[in-house]
Amino acid sequence: MNLRIKSFEEYQSKYKQSVANPEQFWAEIADTFSWQQKWDNVLDWNFNDPSIKWFSGGKMNITENLLDRHLKDRGNKVAFHWEPNDINESGKSITYNELHKEVCKLSNGLKELGIEKGDRVCIYMPMVLEATVAILACARIGAVHSIVFAGFSSSALANRIDDAQAKLVITSDGLNRGTKKVDLKSMVDEAVKDCSSIQHVLVLDCIHSKPTMKEGRDIDYHALINKQPHDCTPETMDAEDMLFILYTSGSTGKPKGVVHTCGGYMVYTSYSFENVFQYEENDVFWCTADIGWITGHSYIVYGPLLSGATSVIFEGIPTFPDAGRFWQVCEKYKVNQFYTAPTAIRALMAHGTEIVNKYDLSSLKVIGSVGEPINEEAWNWYHEHIGKGNCPVVDTWWQTETGGIMLSGLGDLSPMNPTHAGFPLPGIQPALLDSDGNEIIENDQEGYLCMKFPWPSILRTTYGDHDRCKNTYFSNYKGYYFTGDGAKRDKNGMYRIIGRVDDVINVSGHRFGTAEIEDAINTNSFAIESAVVGYPHDIKGQGIYAYVVVDKSHTGSEREISASLIESVSSGIGRIAKPDKIQMVTGLPKTRSGKIMRRILRKIAEGEKANFGDTSTLLDPSVVEEIVGNSK
Ligand code: PRX
Repeated sequence: MNLRIKSFEEYQSKYKQSVANPEQFWAEIADTFSWQQKWDNVLDWNFNDPSIKWFSGGKMNITENLLDRHLKDRGNKVAFHWEPNDINESGKSITYNELHKEVCKLSNGLKELGIEKGDRVCIYMPMVLEATVAILACARIGAVHSIVFAGFSSSALANRIDDAQAKLVITSDGLNRGTKKVDLKSMVDEAVKDCSSIQHVLVLDCIHSKPTMKEGRDIDYHALINKQPHDCTPETMDAEDMLFILYTSGSTGKPKGVVHTCGGYMVYTSYSFENVFQYEENDVFWCTADIGWITGHSYIVYGPLLSGATSVIFEGIPTFPDAGRFWQVCEKYKVNQFYTAPTAIRALMAHGTEIVNKYDLSSLKVIGSVGEPINEEAWNWYHEHIGKGNCPVVDTWWQTETGGIMLSGLGDLSPMNPTHAGFPLPGIQPALLDSDGNEIIENDQEGYLCMKFPWPSILRTTYGDHDRCKNTYFSNYKGYYFTGDGAKRDKNGMYRIIGRVDDVINVSGHRFGTAEIEDAINTNSFAIESAVVGYPHDIKGQGIYAYVVVDKSHTGSEREISASLIESVSSGIGRIAKPDKIQMVTGLPKTRSGKIMRRILRKIAEGEKANFGDTSTLLDPSVVEEIVGNSK
């Protein structure tokens, strides 16, 4: 809503203002939104507890800002064009007026089911319009949504439901994915079996599979909403009330529930959306992420709607019915800003340019990348063949925890350098730290990427375990938020992300902890112990390499054992986390104190045969020779 910076000089001056007087800077931006009551304090913070509060005392509802506020001038404007998986099926478009009505109906329906402000609602849905309606209905009544990506297994879903103590799951009978149909309802049935917090399961009909409905628990989506009034007064929320929980993986333990709150998240997603994509009224925006990830939350749902934008929601996959699908959708809706992941670019690049050139991509103004480092070859291909050399590539670096884009070019305003995310957005104060925790002031240096000042959409806590939040993000370097990434600042001050420096692997832009995958492998009766590392993968960015010590007393061929181990990961986490390579080993390289030397395993996975550095602390060096000898 007119938060857009219009030149690089303006960016530089805004940036200076935002550092010199952050409170004034953000208060002016927050003032452009609609508040039921103005805040008492713009910012209260310390990174030690940590305790971060933006606009506290301010009363608002985010859906009032992204729906009601637009109805007068944009009521008949399309909020979303929904493009189905099947290219022959006609899509659906929904206006702001219609979306408002649908959200109100479901909000009333949720209330009828006994959902109240502060209750947690789990959303496990395909990429359909109703998923967005479900998110917004929760926000309207003050319920906290926890979206679980529909590619996660029932056991992963159950863990997340349990951790959040969700009362309700909103799901569908199934989903369409290329030529396949996936049965979601039985996954939910399996998941909620032992989740005592669940009172109801709300089921949308997507694939007409007529699933079995459990009497008293399961409710048909349309049966619930059809009888509801078309208006629902938004709940009054404090700016610091929880808006949502989103689970993400870290280097240790189970995935943690990152908590975002209403006011700051609203201000930052809208501000970053308009600036990074240089969004102008009447543009058509398309982010290809799934709503189950933070990118979908911030740049399919909240950011674009807060700005009153028209966006595309796509149900399908980039390669169905063929590898031209993304470009066909861009042409069909005359997309102006296109936002995707490097893994998709690399996968489509492999299909050549002939299929790209069948479509008219002249509407594109800005093309974006997110989720993982983009290699130079993919960057160049994207710039030349999709952007036709005319569109800036915005390489946006951010995280589930940051809520919004932190480092990036701003459309065509900023200088570009392939593989460099670029400069910090106004209000973002990055720092590179050395291993002693000292800030590196000079340019052209590498270090641990941290943030030294809060921004409005920084995570507030990890659900139910504030110590975990403190230990994970605020303890490594006192007084800083630690991102887990390594980065280089070049001589001009542009940031280039090197990658994770912890035990997190980024597979096709999806984040997994090595420990989480090892835990899933270790549930298998063939496995005694395992160690998982990432290795460079042409399409996925990183592939998953699992070294597994197998119980010799079992009979079974290597193929059978591998298949069984993969099945354990698929059922424990989801197919997206299945190892690309499994090597069965008789032992793992451990120090005398029993710690696995992952550094060596990483090198072997990268194809290294020797030169493992200092191995003097290894308990049994012959283990390394054996692993190298049989490496995949
Ligand atoms: O390692 C960084 C990588 O993805 C991590 C965050 O993952 P997640 O919370 O799942 O959020 C992904 C989408 C925002 C980061 O710690 N990452 C994200 N964007 C980039 C990136 N690495 C390099 N370049 C990027 N543009």
